[in-house]
Amino acid sequence: MSFQKKDLISIKDLSASDINYFVETAKEFKKIFLKDIKKVPTLRGKTVVNIFYEPSTRTRSSFEIAQKRLSADSLSISISQSSVAKGESLKDTVLNLDAMKPDAFIIRHSESGAAHFISKLTKASVINAGDGINEHPTQCLIDIMTVAEEKKDLSSLKVAIIGDICHSRVARSDIYGFSKLGADIYLYAPHSLLPRLTEHKNKKIVIAKSIEEAVKDADVVIMLRIQKERASYYFIPSIEEYRNFFKLTPELLSLADKKVMVLHPGPVNRDVEISGSIINDNRTHIFKQVENGVAVRMACLYILMGYQKIHG
Ligand code: CP
Repeated sequence: MSFQKKDLISIKDLSASDINYFVETAKEFKKIFLKDIKKVPTLRGKTVVNIFYEPSTRTRSSFEIAQKRLSADSLSISISQSSVAKGESLKDTVLNLDAMKPDAFIIRHSESGAAHFISKLTKASVINAGDGINEHPTQCLIDIMTVAEEKKDLSSLKVAIIGDICHSRVARSDIYGFSKLGADIYLYAPHSLLPRLTEHKNKKIVIAKSIEEAVKDADVVIMLRIQKERASYYFIPSIEEYRNFFKLTPELLSLADKKVMVLHPGPVNRDVEISGSIINDNRTHIFKQVENGVAVRMACLYILMGYQKIHG
């Protein structure tokens, strides 16, 4: 199979077989992690530029590690030390970096649509590392890979997504991704933090009336933090109230399927959206998600470079 796109901007653009192709490729790359020398020459001679306009721990470091493990030359722009601080626009920043002939850009930006915008400015591949409240496609692939390592048939799963769904790019991508694979999605959030779902007409996506309804018999529970950098605090009365009604506790988790998997994209606010004790529970796979992040990002770089070889 091959992937006939230059960029990875959104899960909305992918078919179920595209998603499976990314995940299966990531599983192959993950085998390298067991070796003494965790490096292959696959992308020798390729150059990747990482541009993160928003803070990141997991996404940025896993992209950088992925690039090193694939032997690509990589460069991470420090926005505060760059000419963005002198007022240079996103467009001019990208056009100038593009003049140095990189093969791929990894972009995180606070504006929804930023990755799509720069994909039009360059022949290099563009990977969306999170754009505003729009999408975080590589996080969705990580979440699907993490679940697929434990569960054979994703189409039979009940996936609960709980928290600040409205401002979460992870939630948007996960809703597209898991529903494309046939899973039933249950959403639970304060009414003010629920998304509009008009674009998912033929999928089973339920707005749960209570956290108990969302969690009951769930195979996967994905917890989300409040995206306070996107003004979400204005949408809830107080953090204390949020804790009381929207935190995943051990008691609530006991309603889920016995083999439930708890995921969280991070960063976690312990004892706000999830009890601290659940983070160390063997049903929780947060650090597995982080481990899989490197494999997924290796797969994304490898697959898009394959497209570049044919069409670039
Ligand atoms: N999951 C995620 O995007 O984490 P970071 O913001 O740390 O990259």
